[in-house]
Amino acid sequence: MQEEWIKALGTMTYGIYALTSAHAKQANAMIASWVSQLSYDPPLIAVAVHPSRFSHVLIQKSESFALHVLKKDQKNLVTRFMEPDLDAKLKGIGWQKGKTGCPILTDCAAWFECKLTDRIQPGNHTLFIGEIIDAVLVSEDAVLTTHDYRGQYIGKA
Ligand SMILES: Cc1cc2nc3c(=O)[nH]c(=O)nc-3n(C[C@H](O)[C@H](O)[C@H](O)COP(=O)(O)O)c2cc1C
Repeated sequence: MQEEWIKALGTMTYGIYALTSAHAKQANAMIASWVSQLSYDPPLIAVAVHPSRFSHVLIQKSESFALHVLKKDQKNLVTRFMEPDLDAKLKGIGWQKGKTGCPILTDCAAWFECKLTDRIQPGNHTLFIGEIIDAVLVSEDAVLTTHDYRGQYIGKA
């Protein structure tokens, strides 16, 4: 993609979310920003995940995911959830298993637990669409967005 197009796309505003998943005994968390609500009835959320992410395997297998809206003061989770050692990602922070087995983080602004209803491969990311089966507004603190993050997610790989 041309540099100019990447720069133009970089002006778009997204939230910075924690996407969790689990299958068998493996739980995981990654940062995702290509996320949107798609429908009110049923309540649907979509997240675009590159097939190279380990989370991709877990979401495919478990057919579920949980999405967390992070608070502005949780920028440290971006580095933590980029960590290649999966077991280190969730170690030492509060979480419990949700209805689907996905980790639900204790500290966040809000979370949505979703059952996969569709997966689409429109380009180099898989669009996972999930129906919300449970959700909680945890805090009304200001939320973390791409405006608070230096650099941008370009989705190349
Ligand atoms: C701000 C930010 C936004 C990101 N958004 C996405 C995204 O929407 N989709 C994606 O596949 N990767 C995204 N990533 C990259 C993943 O978080 C990263 O590759 C992560 O290490 C994947 O973890 P996993 O392989 O354990 O699943 C983003 C990274 C950052 C820093």
